[in-house]
Amino acid sequence: MLFKKTFLAAALVLFIQLVVAQEKITVSSPNNNIQLSFWLNEQGKPMYSVYYKNRPVINSSSMGFELKQTMLNVALPALTEKLALTGSTQSASNTTWKPVWGDVKEIRDNYKQLRVSLGQTGEKPVSFNIIFKVFDDGVGFRYEFPKQANLNHFIVSEEKTQFRLNGDHKAFWIPGDYDSNEFSPNVTKLSEVDSDDPKFAASIFAHQFIDRRAVQTPLMMKSDDGLYINIHEAALVNYPAMNLRYDNADKSLTSVLVPDALGNKAYLQAPAVTPWRTILVSDKATDLLASHTILNLNDPSVIKDPSWIKPTKYVGVWWEMHVGKASWDSASGKHGATTANVKRYIDFAAKNGFGGVLVEGWNVGWEDWFGQYKENVFDFVTPYGDFDVKELQRYAASKKVKLIMHHETSASVTNYERQMDTAYRFMKKFGYDAVKTGYVGHIIPRGEHHDGQWMVNHYVRVAQKTASYKIMLDAHEPVRPTGLSRTYPNWLACEAARGMEFNAWSEGNKPQHDVILPFTRFMGGPMDYTPGIFQLELNYWDKNKKETIHTTLAKQLALYVTICSPLQMAADLPEVYEMKMDAFQFIRDVAVDWDDSKYLEAEPGDYITVARKAKGTNSWFLGSITDENSRSTTVDLGFLDPGKKYTAIIYADADDADYQKNPAAYKITKQVVDSKTTLSLKLAPGGGCAISIMPVK
Ligand code: NOJ
Ligand code: CA
Repeated sequence: MLFKKTFLAAALVLFIQLVVAQEKITVSSPNNNIQLSFWLNEQGKPMYSVYYKNRPVINSSSMGFELKQTMLNVALPALTEKLALTGSTQSASNTTWKPVWGDVKEIRDNYKQLRVSLGQTGEKPVSFNIIFKVFDDGVGFRYEFPKQANLNHFIVSEEKTQFRLNGDHKAFWIPGDYDSNEFSPNVTKLSEVDSDDPKFAASIFAHQFIDRRAVQTPLMMKSDDGLYINIHEAALVNYPAMNLRYDNADKSLTSVLVPDALGNKAYLQAPAVTPWRTILVSDKATDLLASHTILNLNDPSVIKDPSWIKPTKYVGVWWEMHVGKASWDSASGKHGATTANVKRYIDFAAKNGFGGVLVEGWNVGWEDWFGQYKENVFDFVTPYGDFDVKELQRYAASKKVKLIMHHETSASVTNYERQMDTAYRFMKKFGYDAVKTGYVGHIIPRGEHHDGQWMVNHYVRVAQKTASYKIMLDAHEPVRPTGLSRTYPNWLACEAARGMEFNAWSEGNKPQHDVILPFTRFMGGPMDYTPGIFQLELNYWDKNKKETIHTTLAKQLALYVTICSPLQMAADLPEVYEMKMDAFQFIRDVAVDWDDSKYLEAEPGDYITVARKAKGTNSWFLGSITDENSRSTTVDLGFLDPGKKYTAIIYADADDADYQKNPAAYKITKQVVDSKTTLSLKLAPGGGCAISIMPVK
């Protein structure tokens, strides 16, 4: 009894101390552009704010968790208030590292760090830390649960991270969802976000809305006074993806984690960390495109010798299925993945210097694979009778081309997990060193979601396991990337957004799509977007098709530069390219890995102009794209080596080009340029311009 009284008195003293301890700890970024402050408010709630050049980006916002004990499934006292600050340390770091591939050859990682330790009062107190890293272009913070007596296994019922904004910003958003990110981006004020409105949420496959005010990250925003703000996460491992729910009353976004089949969010065991929550900010949109903060927040590569990882361009037996010329299954009588057809692609790849040929529909099961919660569909080792694995291995090797394997799991992930080793051994035996995975449909284990903790761990397991077989990876329908390609550089690309395929069989992608994606989806890493469509009217393939591609041909070329990915497809068919080899020359020439990138001008949703220097060469490639509006711009080639002469080949929209009326009209001109040259570019509505700039020999 006496003990209890003393304990209560001590707790009270502590609590009184805590409610008066309100001092803010403020940390500035290395160049002082950004100020991050942390404090505990009167209720002992952890609070933070972010300023950019003395302008509020994140107003005082709360942080914390609701936890449950795993065994008894009972709530623990929430880690959202009545907390005491038990320690804080500050440090700084300024280093550089070299990515295996990417948009630049060297990345600076320069930040100031604040680590605060927080503890509960009362019986069985739980403690946790928050680590903030303050960069010149943004802030990252993560929660850390250290090993401790009162917390071992636990369940995260919800994370309570708030981002209170300083206005009703313009937002580039897709609906919050547990399963899919294949939506057309919307551009509205945050207060107008409404995922229930069909005009904001065109239909996609496996999807599960969260609520009408929820959006996904990376969320791109622009304030009325011209700040570009992006909220996302980094190093998403062993934790579900974060969506954000908007509340107009206090202009706040609050984390909503993707649940598992039981409604829980994450199962953790201390010591444990969450992913980093990232807030990128600048008064220049181009700074966000150039940011490496999300990569910097990921762990270094675990692959000691990455010499087998090879960025590459590829073609494939793919678009012909999407436009209806061929099929994945062999029963239809128009099977795409036949030995003869694959050889045609191998020949085309070899002739044009492409490293890879993707083949979809090679394995049995495609007759009944889609959307039925069927567990055992594919086995990944049994080819259709008209696909000769051995002969194609011989043929591809003789042409020095690599076949890319396709593993459509049909979202039956239990089935895939059982077969991964067998499948990768089969690949190695037949000369494959890259795989495209796919997760179309409802996830099995039933009740799990594409973006939940269980699946997040699956995608990482696949990256690790493929790495152990020296296999490169391209995942379709995974969770959105968060910079993990730094840690697993064999994970070349992901889809995780609405790709080119939608132009083949839906209302398509709007012209603004391509000038939004770099600010949203690409914040987390490369995308297998599959550009390069030259046959822009699909009734060419099928008289009943009305779809068009919603870009000009020159824009399709420019996408190879505005999109940064070590894996780029030339998605159209060989016979289409063969009719336009002059324009195809750009795709033959363009690189996929870079020593440097110059983000020359950009406005999300409107336009982007980027120049990149091909890895290990003196050649540059420039891409400029616009939305549905035509655009004139000038580019200053001041980034070229002074005094050197270059040949610029300019692949431009023809004067009468228009993505709706005349998409295929292009003109190609050549001129000698140097670092003093300024080029005037004219982009058609839905258009673009691609330029190769190679040293004069
Ligand atoms: C969707 C993928 O994004 C696409 O590339 C693939 O062709 C189909 N699924 C079939 O697996
Ligand atoms: Ca897809």
